[in-house]
Amino acid sequence: MTAPKKLFIKTYGCQMNVYDSERMAEALGGQGYVETKSADDADMILLNTCHIREKAAEKVYSELGRFKGLKAEKPDLKIGVAGCVAQAEGEEIMRRQPLVDLVVGPQSYHRLPEMEAKTRAGEKALDTDFPEEDKFEKLKTRPKASRGPTAFLTVQEGCDKFCAFCVVPYTRGAEVSRPADRILAEARDLVERGVREITLLGQNVNAYHGAGADGDMTLAQLIWALDKIDGLERIRFTTSHPNDMGDDLIAAHGACSKLMPYLHLPVQSGSDRILKRMNRSHTAESYLRLIERIRAARPDILMSGDFIVGFPEETEADFQATMDLIEEVNYGYAYSFKYSTRPGTPAAERAQVDEDVKSERLQRLQTLITRQQRAAQDSMVGKEVSVLFEKPGRQKGQMGGKSEYLHAVHVEDAGIEVGDIRKVRVIASGSNSLSGELV
Ligand code: 5AD
Ligand code: SF4
Repeated sequence: MTAPKKLFIKTYGCQMNVYDSERMAEALGGQGYVETKSADDADMILLNTCHIREKAAEKVYSELGRFKGLKAEKPDLKIGVAGCVAQAEGEEIMRRQPLVDLVVGPQSYHRLPEMEAKTRAGEKALDTDFPEEDKFEKLKTRPKASRGPTAFLTVQEGCDKFCAFCVVPYTRGAEVSRPADRILAEARDLVERGVREITLLGQNVNAYHGAGADGDMTLAQLIWALDKIDGLERIRFTTSHPNDMGDDLIAAHGACSKLMPYLHLPVQSGSDRILKRMNRSHTAESYLRLIERIRAARPDILMSGDFIVGFPEETEADFQATMDLIEEVNYGYAYSFKYSTRPGTPAAERAQVDEDVKSERLQRLQTLITRQQRAAQDSMVGKEVSVLFEKPGRQKGQMGGKSEYLHAVHVEDAGIEVGDIRKVRVIASGSNSLSGELV
């Protein structure tokens, strides 16, 4: 028997890439690959790239350059680029960096085994198609390996919204939902392998409309179907668009006990003028009213958001409107970014805000958000939360996990096992986590 070949995957960007990397490892597992944590002893290196941040492609090229020595030592080493930069750059990657053997876009991972074989035959392999077939169905999973208590599950991919700053509609393509029976089968399989919490993923996850037994299903209907799976204890989903927040999904937040009280609902800006230029098709007011309805269904829900500062033509008054909206919502968590251009997107062509102004606004926004985040975390002290324990904590004898609100919680107790869900009384709020004791 020949020794297994070793695969090193480096994953950048969002949770969907984490999920995709797992599927790619499984697909190549069928070709005799096992994963390794080091590029140095790999027979194949795959960079699963992200295109959302600035100069993403440049960073990939410089990362690839670093493998030159390794490839010179090991001529049989195959190097591949996957993910959104692969989709955006395509053939250009092989032109600019000849040591790359394989370029695969996010919709073609199921073709990796054939592509790998092609590289072994000394050829280059490129696939950035948007094929009709279901790549997830083709990615047959390996025999049941047990896994940790939390998992991601992609239910929807792509986006038709075309926000003026965003590359996703170009790199991930049009919105596609997976059929519900396949998602449910995958969820049952995960639960059999030890998973207790599933996070449903999609660039526009609440636009989910996959085929069910009686026609298309909404995300809320899918959640209710998942709710029936014994052993699955927690359900989350991300990322949502305000315009796709249906009444049944809002109601589920109040009625489905497995659906966790945390919602990531990006607004990007609080200025209607800027929202319009961003092509967001909602207003600050409609967003605020939506949050009111969500909180009416689930008063303790922890809201999280994304913000872009310094979008083209943003004035101080526009920025102030964003700050006012943040004050009104009171977020428990937020991600914030300086606008940066993405070639090929409409906003890239417009008059840009000064870099200094962007930096200064970002700092003010982050100060406000940090204060709200701190207050939300501190307000947990004295309360009882339910914690799903994921791994031993940093200190000896500690176990760490997440509360239903996604706060990191650690508890000193040797009796807790990974995968346990226990009631915990929060006793202190630290810099990035809570500490507590078992109730
Ligand atoms: N510049 C800055 N931030 C961006 N995002 C997406 N595109 C850009 C861009 N060009 C942010 C948005 C989105 C998050 C995933 O990344 O806030 O919600
Ligand atoms: Fe990008 Fe999200 Fe807008 Fe779609 S809805 S274009 S993924 S920011």
